[in-house]
Amino acid sequence: MARILIVYASDHGGTEKMAMAASDGARSVPGTEIVVKKAEEANTADLLGCDALMIGSPVHMGSIDWRVKKFIDTVCSGAWMQDKMIGKVGAVFACGSGYGNAGGGSELTMLALLNNLAELGLLIVPLPKNTPGYRVAGLQWGPYGRAHAEDLSPKGLSDEQLVSSKHHGIHVARVARALDGAKVFG
Ligand SMILES: Cc1cc2nc3c(=O)[nH]c(=O)nc-3n(C[C@H](O)[C@H](O)[C@H](O)COP(=O)(O)O)c2cc1C
Repeated sequence: MARILIVYASDHGGTEKMAMAASDGARSVPGTEIVVKKAEEANTADLLGCDALMIGSPVHMGSIDWRVKKFIDTVCSGAWMQDKMIGKVGAVFACGSGYGNAGGGSELTMLALLNNLAELGLLIVPLPKNTPGYRVAGLQWGPYGRAHAEDLSPKGLSDEQLVSSKHHGIHVARVARALDGAKVFG
């Protein structure tokens, strides 16, 4: 059994939709248990009990949402101090409005998150370019959401935009299952 923990923050529902799509994908892989938590509710027990951690953040000022960063700096840092996350699986996703029509900081947000996951010693799962939905909502770092239209009016995420998130969840669950708790470092 592989336990997948999905942690996210969301004000307008975009990142939350992506978290739920990733959860649906991960749940479709046999032998998985999925825990989805808002960043302000996720605790150390959630973290220590998971085999894979997926973190999703809204893009705020081109970077990580403060609630997600607080989770990283408070909850994750304790596990980092004690080397408790080393060798587990990690992955990220982000939702921006898409200002500038080039992701609006989604890429930087995911890179910042991946840096944090690397600090934890996680085995990072990227988003391969043959992933279903990649052309619509994929970067090699993970799925991204673009919640606003080109005229900047809020439109939310379409089902089409959530396909890559679902498959990211499937990838992460498969990797976690394949590792089956194996200790690959140290
Ligand atoms: C404080 C703040 C800063 C934001 N900065 C950006 C930004 O830099 N780039 C962007 O594309 N969208 C930006 N947005 C828009 C959000 O990313 C967008 O509303 C997205 O839907 C947030 O995810 P959510 O739907 O899960 O809340 C910002 C929103 C807020 C509230």
